[in-house]
Amino acid sequence: MCGIVGYVGKRPCRDLLINGLQKLEYRGYDSAGISLLADGEIDSVRAVGNLANLRVAVGMGTNGDAPVAAPSATIGLAHTRWATHGRVTEENAHPHGDCSDEVHIVLNGIIENHAELRQDLRGDGHVFSSETDAEIVAHLIEKHYSGDLTEAVRSAFGDLRGHYAFAAMHAAHPDTLVAARQECPLVVGMGDDETFVASAIPAFLAETRNALAIENGEIVTVTPDGATVTDAAGASVARKSEEILWDEDAAEKGGYATFMRKEIDEQPDAVAETIADRLPDKDRVDLSELELDPEFVRSMRRIVIVACGTSYHAGLVGRYAIEQWARVPVEMDIASEYRYRDPVVSSDDLVIGITQSGETADTLAAMRLAREKGAKVMALTNVMGSQATRDADAVLFTRAGLEIGVAATKTFVSQVAAMYLVGLWVAQQRDALPAERVAELIAELRNLPSKIQETLDSVEERVKAVARAEKDGTFFLYLGRNVGLPVCLEGALKMKEISYIPSDAYAAGEMKHGPIALLDESTPVVCVATDSPILDKVLSNVEEVRARGADVVSIATEGTPRVAEASDLTIEVPRTDWLLQPIVAVLPLQLLAYHVARMRGLNVDQPRNLAKTVTVE
Ligand code: F6R
Repeated sequence: MCGIVGYVGKRPCRDLLINGLQKLEYRGYDSAGISLLADGEIDSVRAVGNLANLRVAVGMGTNGDAPVAAPSATIGLAHTRWATHGRVTEENAHPHGDCSDEVHIVLNGIIENHAELRQDLRGDGHVFSSETDAEIVAHLIEKHYSGDLTEAVRSAFGDLRGHYAFAAMHAAHPDTLVAARQECPLVVGMGDDETFVASAIPAFLAETRNALAIENGEIVTVTPDGATVTDAAGASVARKSEEILWDEDAAEKGGYATFMRKEIDEQPDAVAETIADRLPDKDRVDLSELELDPEFVRSMRRIVIVACGTSYHAGLVGRYAIEQWARVPVEMDIASEYRYRDPVVSSDDLVIGITQSGETADTLAAMRLAREKGAKVMALTNVMGSQATRDADAVLFTRAGLEIGVAATKTFVSQVAAMYLVGLWVAQQRDALPAERVAELIAELRNLPSKIQETLDSVEERVKAVARAEKDGTFFLYLGRNVGLPVCLEGALKMKEISYIPSDAYAAGEMKHGPIALLDESTPVVCVATDSPILDKVLSNVEEVRARGADVVSIATEGTPRVAEASDLTIEVPRTDWLLQPIVAVLPLQLLAYHVARMRGLNVDQPRNLAKTVTVE
């Protein structure tokens, strides 16, 4: 998730902007840049790596070097980039300019129709200097500009599809910034004779606590005297600013008490980024970025998925989707097991290594082994430039943004969403599903971000009540079948790693073969009983458990009253296609572990004995 800071006022703003970017560093980035407007010209500097590199590039903090980015300028834009489209290079870092270098923009998010816009603009003679979708916005503003920057931004906004926020400036307007929002956050900071625009409040909190939120579909014109908000049609919007009361620690976490909680709430956005332009039409999945030979995809014998921890659980969900939709056999293995068992693998296998960090030693070793044995290897990762991207024939990025909390949350749902895309794409390549079914699933996938939001908005109080009742428990059991099973494994992992309560997850049908002996009246049993062709089987397992006196909390799809009848307490999640239910069903389980751990006074962001990335073998 990138960071935007803009300033217009009376003070020289180069250092102000870079200090603002520093406050957004926690969001993660791989390159940064700044554009400053002075004497009718825009001077721009970009650098790969951290802000120290940008400071050196602009001449800050270096002895005697001539500063390069107009230090006297009182208007400018700055950006930290987390690469999604295009590699991590200076050319791809923001700000981006138009053909005549008069318009500069910074953008967060994704422009879904970038390919067609780029083609049209090229046809009109525009010349591009980066591989990014963002640069298109500078050229669109150039195309629509005829003296009024706000109107040019409004017209450009009308051409764009996707979820994004951007800010623009023009060499002919030394006291105006114009910004627009569609899904990605955008906020204005109102100072005395100066105004900031940013993707998050911490960017300007040291300068002003007076903030104005911009909503979806709105355009804001910012001058030193304040901000004017209009909608996409140009009608003015009345909006009051608010005083922000956060302390510095809360500001770093965007007002949240912990990074983990912030990341849980970022999940709708993370999944929106994952699917964005990969579902360009209502009947087509586009994973051409994988550059896998279509003939290989059509003829491959099987898929093998290797991963560790939460990534392994995402792979398990992916297995059900791929087998169900594409009818390709899928084998799953924990990477640390796979690499030591001399696996049978050959050139007609696709091996998918799932690793959020792209640096997990066991997953990398498993991928390398498969490659040595001749398999095609694909990496599913969140981090551009990570080792996994170098050890693979094909790479798919989850685009979840930086995750700071050790416990994986938003990266899990984005991995699951990416695996759904893979399953559907392979099915399409192999003509394994009727076109109407593909269209139906695409519509469901597109709805996932709003279903995730709906779930997060609705389950909190019930989850908290369960957490209060069970926080002093000594054991949690999670039961599920089919796609509910990986959700249980993930729920139990979250409970263990952040609350330190022993927890187990079991295939519900296996209970009677031994583990049922564990149960008594004191055992909370969490049952994932979302709607599916085997729901009746799950419910008969619930009966078995309740007969031993255990308390059953079920996660159920809305509109299935028989689950509530069979359970002590039910937490409902929105209905989706049954294979997609894991992505909403996991949310109450993440929240349950979170609230239990917080009620026990534990540090959820940095649990004991754990590191975010496991690079040792
Ligand atoms: C659990 C968690 C870990 C990771 C595992 C793999 O919350 O974060 O189980 O999923 O260490 O890490 P990556 O995906 O980076 O390979």
